[in-house]
Amino acid sequence: MFYETDKNDHGLSRAPFKSCVVPRPIGWLSTVNADGVPNLAPYSQFTNLTFDPPYVLVSINRKLDGERKDTALNIEATGEFVYNIVPYALRDAMDITAAPFPPDVDEFEKAGLTKAPCEMVNVPRVAESPINLECKYVQTIILPGTSRVGTADVIIGKVVGVHIDDDCIMEDDKIDMEKIRPLARMGYSDYTSAESVFELSSSKDFAIDSKERHGMEGATGKLD
Ligand SMILES: Cc1cc2nc3c(=O)[nH]c(=O)nc-3n(C[C@H](O)[C@H](O)[C@H](O)COP(=O)(O)O)c2cc1C
Repeated sequence: MFYETDKNDHGLSRAPFKSCVVPRPIGWLSTVNADGVPNLAPYSQFTNLTFDPPYVLVSINRKLDGERKDTALNIEATGEFVYNIVPYALRDAMDITAAPFPPDVDEFEKAGLTKAPCEMVNVPRVAESPINLECKYVQTIILPGTSRVGTADVIIGKVVGVHIDDDCIMEDDKIDMEKIRPLARMGYSDYTSAESVFELSSSKDFAIDSKERHGMEGATGKLD
């Protein structure tokens, strides 16, 4: 089949687009509002952008009435946010935090999660989450939509601090993803979690320059 997105003439009872780029990692973002009330919500239009220094990006659609979501408002108001990885064990808690609670409701409490302090931002992280990235706001790009909800606040943040649970670091210094089982979105209300890890070694052959391998394999050392 083929369809034009401007026409959306796919003929299916469910729009397929969100299932075409998968699995999408879930940026479980904690923020605080201008009054200091914590907020936590999942965003699967989320990715890392680059690594030296590390930046991440989240795309936050507008609410049905065209208003901006709490996460976008809070990030711009305070200039800070935290990414929390969603392990399979926290799937139900993550789902609870997706509900459209009003800004004065603390989703950590609603989902029974513990707040842990951060080092470089005044935003709590999810203590039960094994990886947390402390982020500083960089810029917003507003993508116009063909509907109110289609309008997206694309927010870029610079990662200034990284927490990793020591119990999730293996003897070879890699993060134990089979232990974490990171959750990812598949479109619709479908999810998957990474259950197995395998290695491909071709990058070792074609990336002659050790600096070139830096980005691919996580080599350490200073770059030019
Ligand atoms: C797994 C998952 C992924 C989501 N991803 C997005 C997303 O990428 N963009 C978006 O606008 N909303 C997304 N949502 C919906 C928001 O989480 C939801 O609108 C939430 O109430 C926003 O909370 P906030 O207003 O506190 O930021 C997602 C929901 C779930 C369950």
